[in-house]
Amino acid sequence: MTKMFLEHLWEYVIEHPIAVLVAVAVLYLTHITLKPLNRIRRLGDVGLFFGKPELTGFYRERQLERLKLLRRTGDLPPVFPNGWYCVCESEKLEKNQIMEITILGQFLSLIRSESGTVYITDSYCPHIGANFNIGGRVVRDNCIQCPFHGWIFSAETGKCVEVPYDEGRIPEQAKVTTWPCIERNNNIYLWYHCDGVEPEWQIPEITEITEGLWKLGGRTEHELMCHIQEIPENGADIAHLNYLHKSAPEITNGSDIIKTDLSDPQPTVQHVWDGKWEVKSEEHKHCGVMHLNQFMTIWGHKVPLTSSKLVAEQHGPGIVHMLFDFGMWGKGVVFQTVTPEEPLLQRVRFRIFSNIPWFFVKFFMTVEAMQFERDVFIWSNKKYIKSPLLVRNDGPIQKHRRWFSQFYTENSPRMMKDGSLSNQAKSIFDW
Ligand code: FES
Ligand SMILES: [Fe+2]
Repeated sequence: MTKMFLEHLWEYVIEHPIAVLVAVAVLYLTHITLKPLNRIRRLGDVGLFFGKPELTGFYRERQLERLKLLRRTGDLPPVFPNGWYCVCESEKLEKNQIMEITILGQFLSLIRSESGTVYITDSYCPHIGANFNIGGRVVRDNCIQCPFHGWIFSAETGKCVEVPYDEGRIPEQAKVTTWPCIERNNNIYLWYHCDGVEPEWQIPEITEITEGLWKLGGRTEHELMCHIQEIPENGADIAHLNYLHKSAPEITNGSDIIKTDLSDPQPTVQHVWDGKWEVKSEEHKHCGVMHLNQFMTIWGHKVPLTSSKLVAEQHGPGIVHMLFDFGMWGKGVVFQTVTPEEPLLQRVRFRIFSNIPWFFVKFFMTVEAMQFERDVFIWSNKKYIKSPLLVRNDGPIQKHRRWFSQFYTENSPRMMKDGSLSNQAKSIFDW
């Protein structure tokens, strides 16, 4: 039966090659269009190898090392501000899984128990130092078993609960450090405070997601080489919106700012931006708010249905909730999270949850990502200037810096001249 079908199919392919090619192309294009966006750009994919994108393998690695070494970073603020940071997207961590995460210049272990709760611990076993991420297992619901001698530690308290070959004798110091963490809005967050202070504010829950009204519509992820503060500061830098982000990304140039004529006073397709940034309120002083209105023009004429109103709430140094209203298209939220993995290596994730039609979500997220990548070109190569030369219409950059400085305190780690840290980031439970 199958053989007969295959023979017929083959005959048809031989007789109608063009029709078959067209059908395959249509199927492929439909698949590409319907698939939710998952755009991932690793360090060096955007904005670092201009002129030499062909560098591969060893030469690419070496060039990255040189860039790190020779770049002027400027007079940087501390590198790990206090706050909540995204370490994983919920659906990426399964039950009974231990996952290695990188944050604050170190590896930690992220665990999901059999009953679904998440925990974060240090990765090194206090017995003789094996790494839980390499062969460790989740046992007894929420405990980690070390791969070296099988000791078992509670991921909740960090305490050793069993030494399998030494009944009843558990040394007092057999304890691994745990880190405060929370799962919210389909993300997993870690709390860090360099002076050992408990979480000072909570991440608001978006009820439309919890109630299933807004669905995940796509994601992007970028690794970039800059100080963490550069990324949120963009929200208060109003003047750059109508220069760097003025023209819509072109298909041929993508996000490449070297190939794009940024100074064109009247690009064919243009984004028109209008924004303001302010601190939310005295009682929510960890929260900054940007109001941004945008619409598109073609040959100078406003395009109907392209207006968007955005309220971006910045919750501390690493989380932005962008609440969108697209009028008749629907509403949604984009989470932007910035995670300082190393002093000058940030992982930025964007995830959209909305009730907007899928084709519009995909278009919107792609354009957003391309505009974001224009910033990546700038951030990955710029120097931090402590006292910038600002003019009246630059936007509230200094106000933003004063606001951001609340996330640095006495023991905030600084990057020394040789690239090392003034002090290692540690859990608040280690104080
Ligand atoms: S090193 Fe972990 S049990 Fe020995
Ligand atoms: Fe920007």
